[in-house]
Amino acid sequence: MTRHLKIDLPDTENRLDQMAQGVLGKPLDRLEGPLKVSGRATYAAEARPDGLLHGVLVQSSITKGRVTQVGTHPDALAVLTDPRMIRYAAQGMATKGPKRGPDVVEYMGQPIALVVAETFEKARHAAKNLPITYEEETDAPLDPATAPLDRPDAKQSAAGDLDAAMRDAAFVLDEVWHTPSMAATAMEPHAAIAEWDGDHVTIRAGMQMLSSNRQQMADALGIPLEKVRLLAPYVGGGFGSKLGINAEAVAAALAARELGRPVSVVLTRMHDFDLSHRRSESRQRVLLAADADGRLTGLGHESRVSNLPDTTFAEPVTQATPFTYDGAHRRIVQEIARIHRPATGSVRAPGEAIGVNVFECAMDEMAERVGLDPVKFRLRNIPQNEPVTGRPFSSHKLAEAMEEGARRFGWADRNPAPKHTLQGEWYMGMGMAAAVRVNQIIESRARVSLTPDGRALVETDMTDIGTGTYTVLGQIAAEMLGLPRDAVEVHLGDTDMPPASGSGGSFGAASAGTSVYLACEELRTTLAQRMGCAETDLTLQDGEARAGNAVRKLTDLLNGEPLDAEGHVEPGDTAKAVRQATWGSHWAEVAVNRWSGEVRVHRMMGVFACGRVLNAKTARSQCLGGMTFGIGIALTEDMAQDDRDGHNVARDLAEYHVPTHADVPHMEVHLLEELDAHAGPTQVKGIGELGICGAGAAVLNAVYNACGVRVRHFPATPDRIL
Ligand code: MOS
Repeated sequence: MTRHLKIDLPDTENRLDQMAQGVLGKPLDRLEGPLKVSGRATYAAEARPDGLLHGVLVQSSITKGRVTQVGTHPDALAVLTDPRMIRYAAQGMATKGPKRGPDVVEYMGQPIALVVAETFEKARHAAKNLPITYEEETDAPLDPATAPLDRPDAKQSAAGDLDAAMRDAAFVLDEVWHTPSMAATAMEPHAAIAEWDGDHVTIRAGMQMLSSNRQQMADALGIPLEKVRLLAPYVGGGFGSKLGINAEAVAAALAARELGRPVSVVLTRMHDFDLSHRRSESRQRVLLAADADGRLTGLGHESRVSNLPDTTFAEPVTQATPFTYDGAHRRIVQEIARIHRPATGSVRAPGEAIGVNVFECAMDEMAERVGLDPVKFRLRNIPQNEPVTGRPFSSHKLAEAMEEGARRFGWADRNPAPKHTLQGEWYMGMGMAAAVRVNQIIESRARVSLTPDGRALVETDMTDIGTGTYTVLGQIAAEMLGLPRDAVEVHLGDTDMPPASGSGGSFGAASAGTSVYLACEELRTTLAQRMGCAETDLTLQDGEARAGNAVRKLTDLLNGEPLDAEGHVEPGDTAKAVRQATWGSHWAEVAVNRWSGEVRVHRMMGVFACGRVLNAKTARSQCLGGMTFGIGIALTEDMAQDDRDGHNVARDLAEYHVPTHADVPHMEVHLLEELDAHAGPTQVKGIGELGICGAGAAVLNAVYNACGVRVRHFPATPDRIL
């Protein structure tokens, strides 16, 4: 039995609040936490099938040209140069990458061969010493400022006459910001172990989106979907780099097929920086025009990002710009520079992570020009409906998030004049920013089974990339079926189970969660029939079913037989009818050293509205992670590349600086209650990426309030502050 739902109409029924178990929303610990901290949760690289061989990818040492010859090495059992492996290297969303010839080099560091040997050390040694000859081309564009540009029509938009609005405005701003390239670099580097059994392949890999990854893998290997099984029960973070399949998985599968033995390809941290995609650097011009009262009459957001020629991904920098603030005259420009540097792709809130962070710096600057408090200026410019389209918002909590934040953070005490307070050698300052991120649901399926002993099992190929999926899916099932949380088992990360949304774009909990909800609804319908009542009159709690005065044990209702059901959710036309987003506000207090320019973040706070909260602890943790990366965007992250050849210079976590414990202050997270009827029956929306969108701007706006410096080249390292 499958319960299917296409989310089209608003759903205000709010069923989850009528359930009796009281498990949902609770700050429960992560189900798999003890396994992870004791080393019993095994990641892709940890499997050791008999006869395992080891592969190491060889990288190009030229930027552009052709490989004319790949030699061999005595330690190598095999050297593969299959183009399919190369095609899937770091292409952002894998299947959209360029269809390269087998020998074409498009960036320095591109994989061009796989060396397979009996041990990892031998493979690495052979890979380092493999003789390769090239025919080099020296005309590769590397600088986005001068490279050929694409301006896809679909990504440009305009309304009214922004130039006229700028001419006629009482106040204007027209400034350019630059954000650097950033690395996804999840805690668990990319890894894959492939093993064939006849014409079936099983691949253990770190991947975010198993059902689409399975299709990509089948396409790459030229075999039917049914012959591919992917296993990813534990994934140590993805940050977008594991959304599509990557070179290591394709290479491992091809090599294992050719050699007739299992093959492991585990990337080192340095390989991980080079061989998975990066976030594009960006150039962003923001134009703002306001009348004498500080009402925006026009706004423009012009972005330039980069990617390799013939790729389709472009960081959607302006994604939230159409609906965050009002203003009749508008212009959005998106340009993609075609350069020969490592491919760009989705990384941690692609679009808003850099777009909102820049735009919110511009809003802070404009507030000052207009002579309004930054909160008041924003509140004055929140639109009633989505500008241009006129679509209503499915929910709109931006104003509330700002008002609540201002109150909780003590914003009223802020002195707007920079350099207002010197404590010892530190200038103190406070800053804020809005948080905005688009929201969506993706098709997803799950199976939920009740076993005769009255326990439940949730099965789906959904992944838990450190986000708490095991825990929240278990909580939904426990709540719906009236079971204690420990009576529910959750199995994830295996394509033999029903295909889920996967983890990405903050859609995982809402999409997979709704499929679990639907499967449970179907089970409840059957149980209600057995109780002889309507589903709405059925109360399930602590393993008992109640309807009116009748009480029966769940185990009696099951009568020795298992009972299972599937849930299947699909997105409908919601996006045509309404603008749906998640909302929030960010607050920061910083100290800037007057002599060294060092910035220390003293306090941060985020207030977020993102639909129903499934687990107060995992939700808060998601926000803390996002805010921490906001500090990274503002102050430390910079994936430096060599401008002469485009290769990554920062290739490990000693060179690429993410905030460490010492950089992260006490952080407060407040979640506003929000039930968005357009988010489906669970009323759950995305939370994972909201925390990063705007967090960096709050820090940089606080830096300005402290020392009077506007840093328009991210990150705000000391040299840019002095
Ligand atoms: Mo996310 S960057 O969609 O994994």
